[in-house]
Amino acid sequence: MIKQRILITGALGQLGVSLIRVLSKRSDTYILATDINAPKEEIDVDFECVNALDTNRLEELIVQQKIDCIYHLAAILSAKGEKNPFQSWHVNVNSFQVTVELAIKHKVQRVFWPSSIAVYGEDKNPINAPQQVDMNPLTMYGVSKLACEKLMIYYHQKFNLDIRSLRLPGVLSSDPAGGGTTDYAVEMVQAVKNGKDYTCFLAPQTELPMIYIDDVVIAIEQLMESNLSNQERAHSYNIMGFSLTPAMLESQLHKMGYPAEVHYAPDYRQQIAESWPRTIQDQFARDHWGWAPQFDLEKSIKQMTP
Ligand code: SER
Repeated sequence: MIKQRILITGALGQLGVSLIRVLSKRSDTYILATDINAPKEEIDVDFECVNALDTNRLEELIVQQKIDCIYHLAAILSAKGEKNPFQSWHVNVNSFQVTVELAIKHKVQRVFWPSSIAVYGEDKNPINAPQQVDMNPLTMYGVSKLACEKLMIYYHQKFNLDIRSLRLPGVLSSDPAGGGTTDYAVEMVQAVKNGKDYTCFLAPQTELPMIYIDDVVIAIEQLMESNLSNQERAHSYNIMGFSLTPAMLESQLHKMGYPAEVHYAPDYRQQIAESWPRTIQDQFARDHWGWAPQFDLEKSIKQMTP
């Protein structure tokens, strides 16, 4: 018997494809994946090409499919967003608004939405950044995510909307990332494992918090299934797996027997990376719903297929 009916936006992105792999194994769950792009390969859930800003079509789908849970993943990431900040705000904030409005109108029981370490600014706590601190993001991506974190709390208080969120660091995965500042890690592993040299767009000592995709999916499932108090629900929870520099990743790959070379040519993404914390505190997630990462760097690289 189907117990939950899920709609996913931005379903073909780095998070969506892994999330679908796991959620589609549940026999009691219906999944409707949507994305602005068509899938390149078959996916084993229902799929429709929909722009996450298309209120009318999303509303039709929510009603037709009796959707009771939404994972709103569509977004333009940090580096791509700096090429067109107006578009970045438009997509990131307005698609959030569309999702939330429809969720409230159609009494969707639970919503998941990912925030990002991009909400932090360079003036605050670059090491071990606390969950809550004044934030002055440098990028439009960070500004839009911070605005949505505030909106999330507002809609929770005003309409009792059950919307849950993780503040994600860079994510390592076999599937490609896209448009982010932390994407170098995915690109370097893919290139070097394929025996190809890689030119990194960040400087070798640039330290950022990272996490392996399987840990993200576990965290999303744990967070969505937890009994959280009203006060706890209002957080976008920091989580991280390990801190990483390009030099550390290069040396770990060499240690694991991959000889390809890494070169460094930092570009505009260096400034973005330097505005983000090097590590973040994830104690709230550990205390409130039992978060604990399973993957360190070596284990993550081993999992990643070239
Ligand atoms: N991975 C994101 C980016 O680099 C950060 O959350 O934009």
